[in-house]
Amino acid sequence: MSASRVSQILFSRVLQATRKPQHLVTPVIRYYACQTGNYESIKTEIVGEKKNVGLITLNRPKALNALCDQLIKEIIHALEHFNTDSSIGAIVITGSEKAFAAGADIKEMKDKSFAENLKSNFIDSWHDVSKSKKPLIAAVNGYALGGGNELMMMCDIVYAGDKAKFGQPEIAIGTIPGAGGTQKLPRFIGKSKAMEMVLTGNMITAEEAERSGLVSKIFPPDKVVGEAVKLGEKIASHSQLVVSLAKEAVNAAYETTLQQGLEYEQKLFNSTFSLADRKEGMTAFLEKRPPKFTNE
Ligand code: CAA
Repeated sequence: MSASRVSQILFSRVLQATRKPQHLVTPVIRYYACQTGNYESIKTEIVGEKKNVGLITLNRPKALNALCDQLIKEIIHALEHFNTDSSIGAIVITGSEKAFAAGADIKEMKDKSFAENLKSNFIDSWHDVSKSKKPLIAAVNGYALGGGNELMMMCDIVYAGDKAKFGQPEIAIGTIPGAGGTQKLPRFIGKSKAMEMVLTGNMITAEEAERSGLVSKIFPPDKVVGEAVKLGEKIASHSQLVVSLAKEAVNAAYETTLQQGLEYEQKLFNSTFSLADRKEGMTAFLEKRPPKFTNE
C-alpha cells in the first residue's frame, strides 16, 4: 500500500472520529493537532511561549503548495480542531519561503467538467476556512496566487515577507478566480487595482499589498512567521469569547449596510456585559493589575 493511501485511510479515520460525541474525540483531536506529520499536505504545531497559538504550515513544496482537494480538507480539519482546543487563542497559516500557495491545483483541475464541478460543489468547502471563530493570521512568503491569494484573504490579518508576490493569475489559464478573488479584492483594495489584477493576471509586490491594505505589515522573510506567532500570542492573551465577538463585528462590516453594522456592533458590545471576562477586564484596569480572563 502506498504512503499516500495509508495517509488517506488515517485521515478518513480521523474524520470519522470527529463525528463521535465531543468527550470521546478530544484526545484524538489533541493528538492530531499536536503532532506533525500525521497529515499528508500540511504540518500542524502548537507554538508560542504559552503554547496558545496553532500553526498550520502548508507542505507541498514540489507543487509550490498548490491547493489540491486533500490539502484543503486537511486545513479545514486542522482549523476545526484548533477551534475546539480551548488552549488555542489564535491560528497562524503559513507556507514556505518560496510559496504561501500558488493557487488551486491545476493538475487536479485540468480534466474536470462543468457537470462534475456542479455535482461536487467544487470550491464550496474552501469557504469553511472563513468559518473559524478563532482569529486566523496568514504569514505569507513567496507566491500567494489565485486560490493562494484567496486563502490568504480568508484570514483575518496578513503579515508578509518583503519578497512576497500576490496575484489572481487565473485569466492566463483560461478561467477566473473562484474562491473569492473577484468579490473580496475590490472590497479590500478597491475596484481599479482589483480589476487590474484580475484582468491582467499581473502580480503585486509586498509593498504594494501593504500600501493598499491587503497586508498589514511586512518583514524580512525569515521574521514573518515569528512575528505572526507573536501577534497570535498577543491576541491569545485576551478573552477568547470577546476576541470572537470582535472578529464577528469587524466581519459584519463586509456583509451589511453601515447602519445595520452599527446596530449589530452595539448589540455585540452590550452582549459583552453578560461575560465575566468583561467584568474582570474593567475591574483589573481600575485595580491597576493585569486581567485574568477565564473565557466565561
Ligand atoms: N497547480 C499545480 N502545480 C503547480 C501550481 C499550481 N497552481 N503552481 C506551480 N505548480 C507546480 C509546477 O507545475 C511545477 O511542477 P513540476 O516541477 O512538476 O513541473 C512546480 O510547481 C514548480 O513550479 P514552476 O516550475 O512553474 O516554478 P517557477 O518558479 O518557474 O514559477 C509560479 C512559479 C510563477 C508560481 C508558477 O508556478 C505559476 O505561475 N503557477 C501557477 C499559478 C496559477 O496560475 N495559479 C492559479 C491557479 S487557478 C486557481 O487558483 C483558481 C481559484 O481561484 C480557486
